[in-house]
Amino acid sequence: MRDVAVIGTGCTTFGEKWNSSFRNLFVEAGILALEDAGVAGEQIDGLYVGNMSAGRFVEQEHIGALIADYAGLASHHIPATRVEAACASGGLSFRQAVIAVASGMEDIVVAAGVEKMTDVASGASVDALAGAADREWEGFVGATFPGLYAMIATDYMNRYPLTREQLAQVAVKNHYNGARNPIAQFRQEISIDTVIKSSLVADPLRLFDCSPITDGAAAVVLAPLERAREFTDTPIKVLASAQASDTITLHDRRDISTLDATVAAGRRAFAASGLSTTDIDLVEVHDCFTIAEICAIEDLGFCRKGEAGRMTWEGATALNGDIPVNTSGGLKACGHPVGATGIKQVFEVVQQLRGEAGKRQVEGAEIGMTHNVGGTGATVAVHILGV
Ligand code: COA
Repeated sequence: MRDVAVIGTGCTTFGEKWNSSFRNLFVEAGILALEDAGVAGEQIDGLYVGNMSAGRFVEQEHIGALIADYAGLASHHIPATRVEAACASGGLSFRQAVIAVASGMEDIVVAAGVEKMTDVASGASVDALAGAADREWEGFVGATFPGLYAMIATDYMNRYPLTREQLAQVAVKNHYNGARNPIAQFRQEISIDTVIKSSLVADPLRLFDCSPITDGAAAVVLAPLERAREFTDTPIKVLASAQASDTITLHDRRDISTLDATVAAGRRAFAASGLSTTDIDLVEVHDCFTIAEICAIEDLGFCRKGEAGRMTWEGATALNGDIPVNTSGGLKACGHPVGATGIKQVFEVVQQLRGEAGKRQVEGAEIGMTHNVGGTGATVAVHILGV
C-alpha cells in the first residue's frame, strides 16, 4: 500500500444558498480544490462524490456522472462514483479515494461531498433524513433524527452526570468557533440561555441543540505521498483511514448511549497509525446534536464515559483547551449539508495543519482527526491526518 496525501482543498460557504444550484455548489468547491492543488482537470484519475439524498432533495440521481460532466470532465471519461452512507457519505467518499490512491489503482483523485437541502420544505427534508434510520421500525412510527438523538440524550442523562447547562455548552462553544469561520452557516456567538430558552424540538433537545438544514459542498484532492511535492509545499499525510458499522436501529444496540461503531473505528484508526488520543491536536466530531458530541468525545477515548460534559464545561474542548473539538463550528454552527460534512471536516483539519485557520487556529497543530457518523451510528468513518 502507498502512503497518501491531501494536496488541495476547497469548500463553498455553508447555509441557505438560494443562488446556487446543486451542480453549481459542487463545481465551486471542486474548482477551489483543484486550484489549491495546482491540478488540471485532465490530470484527475478518479472522482468520488459523497451525497446522501439528491433524489429527495433536488430530484436528481446519477450524481457521479452529473458532477463529472458539469465539472467539465465528460470528455476525459474519468471514473466518477457516488458514495452514499447517509450523513457519513462524505467520510466514506474520502475513504474510497484514499483506498484508490493507496492501492495504486489511481494517482490523482478528487474526494468530494455535496448536498442541497433547502430546496424542499423543512418537513420534507426531515423526512428525507429519516431515511437514514430504519424506515420500517423507526421512521414509520414517527422517529425523526431529533427524536432518536433525544432518546440517546435522555438515556445518557439518566445514567451519567450531564447537566442541561453542560450540554448547552457544546453549542455555545461550537457557535464561538463558527463565528470565527468564514464558511460557517451561523456566525453569531450564543449563550447558555440562548440554548436553554430556544424552542423545544424533541425533549430534552432544543433548537440550538440541533444541527441545521444546510446547502454546501466540499472537495479535496489526493495524491500518492511520493508525488505530493510536485503539487504543493504543504502536503498533509493521511495517517489512518477507518470505518465501522452497527445495527441500523437504535433499539437493537447493546447500549444506545455508546456508539460502538465509533469505538471500533476509533480503535482501528489509532492502531493503524500507532498513535493515541494524546497525540491528537484537534478533532472534528459529528455533532449533529449536542449529545452526539458528548458521546463522540468519550467513544473515541478522549475521556471516560460520563466525563465529557464536565470536560466541555471546564473548557478542555475549547479552541485553547487540551483537545480542541470542532474548531470549524462543527455541524451545529458551521452547518450540516449531510453528504458534504465528512469532506468539510477534512477541509478544516487540513486548514489547521497548514496553519491557515485564522482566528480559530490551534497553535502548533500537527495531527488532527475527523469523525463522521451515518444515522444514529450505523456507519462511522474516522481519519487521522498529519503534517
Ligand atoms: N440552530 C439554530 N437556529 C436554527 C437552527 C439550528 N439548528 N435551525 C433553524 N434555525 C433558525 C433559522 O435560522 C430560522 O431563524 P430566523 O427565523 O431568524 O430566520 C429559525 O430557526 C426557523 O428556521 P426553520 O428552518 O423554519 O427551522 P425548522 O423549525 O423548520 O427546523 C430543526 C429546525 C431543528 C427541526 C431542523 O433544523 C432540523 O431538523 N435539524 C436536524 C437536522 C438533522 O436531523 N440532520 C441529520 C442529523 S444525523
